[in-house]
This record gives sequence, structure tokens and C-alpha cells, in this order.
Amino acid sequence: MDEEMKKEEESIRKNATIYDLLKLEHKDVKKLFKQILDSESFQSNIYNQASKSLAIHLDAEEKVFYTQLINNRESRSETIEGFEEHDVARKIMKDIDDSTDNDVKFAKFKVLTEVVSQHVDDEEGDIYRKAKKVLSKEQEQEIAKQFMNEKMSMMNLPSSPSATNPQPSPTPTPM
Ligand SMILES: [Fe+2]
Ligand SMILES: [Fe+2]
Repeated sequence: MDEEMKKEEESIRKNATIYDLLKLEHKDVKKLFKQILDSESFQSNIYNQASKSLAIHLDAEEKVFYTQLINNRESRSETIEGFEEHDVARKIMKDIDDSTDNDVKFAKFKVLTEVVSQHVDDEEGDIYRKAKKVLSKEQEQEIAKQFMNEKMSMMNLPSSPSATNPQPSPTPTPM
């Protein structure tokens, strides 16, 4: 990679907002899901990869992003919905793992794709719209760094030295 490309990549990473990172991941998971749907049968290899990424995405998203939104009146309701949709997705993923019947796995997987697709639409629409009212530009970039660090630690990788340490997040109280 030449110097100019390196600089450009560094600048994109430095300026990325949490929305940029989350949208990229949504796209990746949707792409893997589509591969399975197109094959019209349960593809455990692709599914394992997709569900692992999705599980980490949900956890990291809640920890660094949703916790910044749930205690603000402006964004509270949509965030509670988001938490709930995450739990529905986790429940279906657990059911898929618990089943040994590939027809059952594939049927449940199809429901998972619908739930995730609806959730991503809600998130990229309602949640981001509200988050943009609540968070400053600096916060949107800071949370992006925290998100990367959180994912690194979930995957047991060393975090980026240029990223700042995440602040302790308030405990979500979706009640
Ligand atoms: Fe998301
Ligand atoms: Fe989400």
C-alpha cells in the first residue's frame, strides 16, 4: 500500500462516525445472510460466521452506543425497542444452535433474516435520526473508536493504541 493510500485510509478511520461503522457491519451480515437464502438450504459454515459477527455486533452496539441513548428522553423509546429486537434475534440464534434438524434451522434462519432486516431498517432510520439529535459530532467519532476497541476485546485482539479508552457506560435500564 503506498503512502497516499495509507493516509487516506487513516483519515477515513479517524473520521468515521459510529453510524459509518455500524452500517458497514449491517451490510456484511446481510450479504452473508443472502448467500444462505439464495442457496435455499441451511449453510452451517456461512451461518456460523454470520451469527458470530452478528452476536458481537449486537453486544458492542449495546455497550457503547445504546447506553449513550437510553437515558436521554429524546432517544429512549427507540433504544428500548432496539434492545428488544436484539433479544429477539439472540433468542432465534439460540434456537437455531439448539436444533439439530437442518429444515428447522433453515426455517428459523429465515425468520432471523426478517427480524434482522426490519431491525436494521429501524436502526438506520429512527435510532440514528434520534442519536444525531442527542450526540455531538465528537461523540459520534469517539463512540466509533470505542466500538472498535470493544470488538477487539470481545475477539481477544489487542485494541488500537490510537483509540481512547471507553468510558464506563451507565447500566441500561430499559423499563
Ligand atoms: Fe446494528
Ligand atoms: Fe442493532
